[in-house]
Amino acid sequence: MVIVEAVRWSDDQRAVRIIDQRELPSREVVRELRTLDDVCDAISTLSVRGAPAIGIAGAMGLVVTSLEFAQLARTSFLDRLQENADRIRATRPTAVNLGWALGRVLAVARASDESGESLVRRLRDEVTSILDEDRAMCRRIGEHGAALIRDGARVLTHCNAGALATAGIGTALATIYVATEQGKHIHVFADETRPLLQGSRLTAWELSRAGIPVSVLADGAAASLMRECGVDLCIVGADRIAANGDVANKVGTYALAIAAQRHGIPFYVAAPSSTFDPLTASGDQIEIEQRQANELRMGFGVRTAPESVGAYNPAFDVTPAELITGIVSDRGIHYPPYDFSKGLE
Ligand code: MRU
Repeated sequence: MVIVEAVRWSDDQRAVRIIDQRELPSREVVRELRTLDDVCDAISTLSVRGAPAIGIAGAMGLVVTSLEFAQLARTSFLDRLQENADRIRATRPTAVNLGWALGRVLAVARASDESGESLVRRLRDEVTSILDEDRAMCRRIGEHGAALIRDGARVLTHCNAGALATAGIGTALATIYVATEQGKHIHVFADETRPLLQGSRLTAWELSRAGIPVSVLADGAAASLMRECGVDLCIVGADRIAANGDVANKVGTYALAIAAQRHGIPFYVAAPSSTFDPLTASGDQIEIEQRQANELRMGFGVRTAPESVGAYNPAFDVTPAELITGIVSDRGIHYPPYDFSKGLE
C-alpha cells in the first residue's frame, strides 16, 4: 500500500516540506516553507490541512522561523518565539492540535536553559517527537478502529481524515488502511465535501493511490445513499473534541450524523489524544472558523454564485455527542456517556 507523507522536515531540517494540497488531485507538488509568511500562508490557504497535520506543520514552522533570531539573548528569543507562535495559531482557530503543538514547543523553550542554535536543536527534537507520536497514534487508531469494520463493508466518510491530514496513516482512514491490511475488502464512499472538496480531491486521491475502492458523492446524496444503497458505518475525523464528547469537524459532519441516526447507521469519530480538549466543556464553546465568501461565490476560480450575494461559510460544525456511536482514539474505543474532562485515561 502506498501511503503519502503530507508533512516532514526538509533534508537540512531548516524548512517544512509539505505536499501542496491545493494542487491535488491534478498535480503532486512539494513545497518548502522557510519564513513565517510561508508557514501562515500554507496553513490558512489549506496547502497543509487536517488537524494533526497543521499542528505538526505549525510547530515545525515555529522552529524553522526561530533560526532567524537564534542569536538573540534568551528573553528576547522567547518573546519573538511567542509572537511567531501567536501568529501561526491565529491562522486557524478550530483545531485544538495547532495550539497544542505550538504550546509544546513554547514549553520546552521556556524550561530549557540553553540558547542559540543548541536551543533550536532542542526545539527541533521536540517537534520530531510530536511527529513520531502522531505517526504511532494513527497506527493505534487504525488497529482499534479496524475491529469495527467487517469484510465487505461499505463505509461512508466526510472530508479527509487520512494520511494527508496527519504525519501517519490518518485517523478515520487509518481504520480502513489497517482493515485492508488484515485482508478485508472495503468500499469507501467519500462525500465530496463542499466547498473545498477535500473528499473528492484528497480522500479519493489517497485511497485510490493505495488501491482501495472508493466512490465520490455530492454531500447532498449521502442520505439517499444510506436509504437506497446501504452503508454499514460512517467514520469521520475531528478538529476538537470537547469534554462532553461534542465534536467539531468539517462542515457537513453534523448533517451526516443526523442522516446516519435516521437510518440506524453507526456513526464513529476517530481522533488522536491531541484532538481531545478537556478545557472546553462542550461544543458551544468551540470557536468555528468562518472562511471567505468567495470560496462559495467563486469556487476554484469559477463564478459559482452572483458576486453581490451574501454567503454563510463556516469551515466546521459541531456534532452533538448524542449522535456519536463511539470515538476511536489511540487509547481504544470510547462509548457514551463521554467524559473527557480529565483528558484520555
Ligand atoms: O479544513 P480542513 O480540510 O483542515 O478540515 C479537516 C477536517 O475537518 C478533518 O476531518 C479533521 O481535521 C481531522 S483530520 C485527521
